[in-house]
Amino acid sequence: MKAVILVGGLGTRLKPLTINTPKAMMPVLNTPFLEYVIRRLSRHHITEIVLAISHLAQPIEGYFGDGSRLGVSLSYAIEETALGTAGAVKNAEKYPGGAFLVLNGDIFTDLDLTAMMDFHRQRQSLATIAMTPVEDPTSYGLIETVTRGRIARFLEKPSWEQVTTNMINAGTYILEPEVLSSIPPQTNFSFEHDVFPPLLERGEPIYAFPSSCYWMDIGTPEKYRQLNQDLLSGKSNQYRLDPVTGVSIGEQGYCHPTAEITAPAVIGSHCSIGKNARLTGPLVIGTGGTIAEGAVVEDSIIWHQATIAAGASVRHSIIANDCRLGADSIVEGSVISDNVIVAEGYKMAIGSRIQPGTSIG
Ligand code: GDD
Ligand code: MG
Repeated sequence: MKAVILVGGLGTRLKPLTINTPKAMMPVLNTPFLEYVIRRLSRHHITEIVLAISHLAQPIEGYFGDGSRLGVSLSYAIEETALGTAGAVKNAEKYPGGAFLVLNGDIFTDLDLTAMMDFHRQRQSLATIAMTPVEDPTSYGLIETVTRGRIARFLEKPSWEQVTTNMINAGTYILEPEVLSSIPPQTNFSFEHDVFPPLLERGEPIYAFPSSCYWMDIGTPEKYRQLNQDLLSGKSNQYRLDPVTGVSIGEQGYCHPTAEITAPAVIGSHCSIGKNARLTGPLVIGTGGTIAEGAVVEDSIIWHQATIAAGASVRHSIIANDCRLGADSIVEGSVISDNVIVAEGYKMAIGSRIQPGTSIG
């Protein structure tokens, strides 16, 4: 079976992190998010993959290329203007003749794709939608099922009054090629609004494949940070930290013997951790980070090439690439985009969102 991964969304709710970095390339434990998705497909022997992209294609194509490094064959279907979820799949259409997979490209899950494919065949389904329980279905596509998982109703982003179940669209579909014929070419069209509801109204056999395995949509900074924390604490079977130390430190780094690192923590290669620095997990520090003498990092995700100068502290925050926090500065509960400079001694307001390239204080 072949797959299309939707990686075209603007990542609006993740701004300012997604101004320079597409959502799919956001680092999760220092590896681009999409790499986990592709590796998981490959483990289920799905190796022909199309990436449907509508903006910021270059960083994705530059990193993954033809996919050979990951043992898959990747091609790219690039939209001139965003075509919506279904329009993007239509644009990527290369696979008549067999059922194929469609994945929302912003979901981290342990979903058993092989079991889902078996379920799809057994039910002789036209479209099978993976389904997962959540606490708040209003941010998702609500799914009501009847017997044997047959879907009776699909309602995208219901209001609380419309919520009848906690089961939602988990963003993985297996579609028979006939579904593509209901999608007009080069038109903005969505599975959630324009494809699934009309197919259900016509009584077509559409099934939900239920699963309660690990599942996370990284749509907001809070969820993105939660995903990193969940992986550090072993909630998904796709990542295991060293069970003894709970700390992973990349190659060619330096850690002063007085520095204190509390698990769980992932620290990239070429990092320098200074005297009396205090690093308290869950935390991730990217490649080439410098955490100077007496600096504190706690419960945070720091991307590549950061400098946290002496005595500075970062708590409960996300810091994107190439940032410099001056000596004794304080950052808490904030999201800082790339190339930001924070002046020495500056105390940032809790909950700040800082645009790329800003100098503060
Ligand atoms: N190529 C392309 N073109 N991709 C797109 C486009 C587009 O125009 N629009 C969205 N995407 C991609 C996004 O990058 C993302 O990977 C996926 O399609 C879903 O879009 P989101 O914008 O993240 O939607 P959502 O999270 O609000 O809701 C969707 O996902 C939920 C599960 O997380 C819906 O499918 C819901 O029904 C579902 O419950
Ligand atoms: Mg999403």
